[in-house]
Amino acid sequence: MVLSEIKEKIAALKAERKAIILAHNYQIEEVQELADYTGDSLELSRIAAAVEAEVIVLCGVHFMAESAAVLAPEKVVLLPEKDAGCPLADTVTPEGLRLYKEKYPDAAVVTYINSSAAVKAESDICVTSANAALVVDSLEAERIIFVPDCNLAHFVSRQTKKEIIPWPGYCITHHRISPDDVDRARRIYPNAPVIVHPECRPGVVERADAVLGTGGMIRFVKETEAQEVIVGTEEGMIYRLRQERSDIKFYLLSPGLLCPDMKYTTPDKVVSSLENMQHRITVPPEIRKQAAGALQRMLKIPSS
Ligand code: 13P
Repeated sequence: MVLSEIKEKIAALKAERKAIILAHNYQIEEVQELADYTGDSLELSRIAAAVEAEVIVLCGVHFMAESAAVLAPEKVVLLPEKDAGCPLADTVTPEGLRLYKEKYPDAAVVTYINSSAAVKAESDICVTSANAALVVDSLEAERIIFVPDCNLAHFVSRQTKKEIIPWPGYCITHHRISPDDVDRARRIYPNAPVIVHPECRPGVVERADAVLGTGGMIRFVKETEAQEVIVGTEEGMIYRLRQERSDIKFYLLSPGLLCPDMKYTTPDKVVSSLENMQHRITVPPEIRKQAAGALQRMLKIPSS
């Protein structure tokens, strides 16, 4: 099917199913084009909870669809590609986290949204790339178990007086960026600011002009006076940023910044997802309730 036919088919199916399509900023451009909303992890959770629809097609990875299912239990949440996962989220299990909790009984558990619902259910509160330090500082506890991204944990530890106990997970895509990549990009494009995701390694974060989640990157480019920007995150972001500022030249900080799981979703899979109502993501009620608590406590923090 060509894209125009796919768009027509999707419009009809959306009306029939009372569905909306949400896409993460890293999705391929053809999928971003089909979406009613594109956004970062936090925005997608918020929209899923607030939007009037019976069906949510979540073009992203498994934990994002789970978060939508947790926050919007009355809606049907579909993940077009059932194998779209997150290797970072997979580094932590509820059992592993419980061992940390036994070891540090006085610590609060702060969990990045890139995690399973079962892990969120073991947590006091969730964070995203956009609000991590703010959430940590809002807590009474002085010690924080921070799971699962050790690079984000390090970034937070630079902004708070609290003791951060990191889980040793990382995103293979962001972790690949080296400090040398930043130095090289700056030599080639000396006038371009460097913006990087907080899942990058400390040496990369220290060299950047701004450390931002994908939503923050969009806000940055909307306001910048720079004519060129170097972007340190998954390559799908370049298309998203060009939609905001077609006058700016965007350069990917290093080659190969590709999250395979984010690329599994295609327009054809979105059609078949709506046609066959697949793959429905559900969360067992007890886990759902606990995970919803951790997510809702985050959503209540004012400027997050
Ligand atoms: P954002 O919340 O910044 O969109 O990041 C999501 C993600 O999966 C990064 O790897």
